[in-house]
Amino acid sequence: MTATDLPPSLISTLPGAAYTDPQIFAREQERIFESMWFCAVRAAELDAPGVFRTVQVGRESALVTRSRDRSVKAFLNICRHRGARLCTTESGQVKRAFQCPYHAWTYGLDGKLVAAPNLTGMPDVDRTTYGLHPVHVREWLGYVWVCLAEKPPSFEEDVVGAATARLGDPEAIGHYQLDELAVGRRVRYDVKANWKLIVENFMECYHCATIHPELTEMLPEFAGGYAAQYYVGHGAEFAEEAQGFTVDGSPGVTRIPGVSAEQDRRYYAITVKPQVFVNLVPDHAIVHRMYPLAADRTVVECDWLFLSDVVESGADLDRSVELFHRVNVQDFDACERCQPAMDSRAYARGGVLVPSEHHIGDFHTWVADRLRD
Ligand code: FES
Ligand code: FE
Repeated sequence: MTATDLPPSLISTLPGAAYTDPQIFAREQERIFESMWFCAVRAAELDAPGVFRTVQVGRESALVTRSRDRSVKAFLNICRHRGARLCTTESGQVKRAFQCPYHAWTYGLDGKLVAAPNLTGMPDVDRTTYGLHPVHVREWLGYVWVCLAEKPPSFEEDVVGAATARLGDPEAIGHYQLDELAVGRRVRYDVKANWKLIVENFMECYHCATIHPELTEMLPEFAGGYAAQYYVGHGAEFAEEAQGFTVDGSPGVTRIPGVSAEQDRRYYAITVKPQVFVNLVPDHAIVHRMYPLAADRTVVECDWLFLSDVVESGADLDRSVELFHRVNVQDFDACERCQPAMDSRAYARGGVLVPSEHHIGDFHTWVADRLRD
């Protein structure tokens, strides 16, 4: 069956194998996650020279750290001698350098090889040539973005342009001062589902009335199913009786001062391909980053960002966090419910998209184009 065999109001989804086949997943890792800008780490986590985080980017482990000159650097987390993984923990801090646990080759925070035992009698080892393999780095919205491609695509077009186009006004995202906000809460979700199921779910609100009672109460237009998160560039208005974006409609915390009158009492959602979703409300921002680990497994790290004064004051953030935490759990449960069926003969040719989901078809075309030679 092809899209043309279906009535004009319905178009087909990707076939089930697109969500389970390890070869397709490997190609996605190469063509998408290792080729595009990837939002890796909250920059403020790297709060001193030598503090590092390791993150899975496509099939590679990247080591992101702060160097002596306070700039952020990223490398492939692989020793140039015989290939041992350099840092084996997800986060940590080294004093002056990274030392390989195998034969003790030692690399400065700028990636240069600074020492290697027993090299006497060997020709000079070039310290840059045998330094760590560098990875491109940018900072934006308070996050460190990395790109493994030799020649990265334009950050301005692919990341900044894509994110700001969604809000119409290129200045609008700046009002939320994301780079100055502090992480009030972080939850990591280990989702047993293919990353595309998670993206597709984020792109539509056809499911909102069924699975998101708290969210539709807060944002009544979501109950209609057409206000896909992907398409709320105009901002979805809070329910009249809601005092804040909280699980029970109670007042939230101090509003971000830059937020305009037009942005007040509204919820905006932005998708930055391939793995970031940003939600903006007047007193906080919610940033999701996906780390696809296998065809059927994706870790999603979600940060709730508030004014740093609010976080430092120890204000109660629970009701603000609880609303979207519930939404996340509801969404990821739905994705996990679909994942096992992707292997079923019933889904071998995929399913269908109703009119309010048609834009998911554009996402499928985008994926297919990236994978094509
Ligand atoms: Fe790292 Fe030998 S593999 S020093
Ligand atoms: Fe949802």
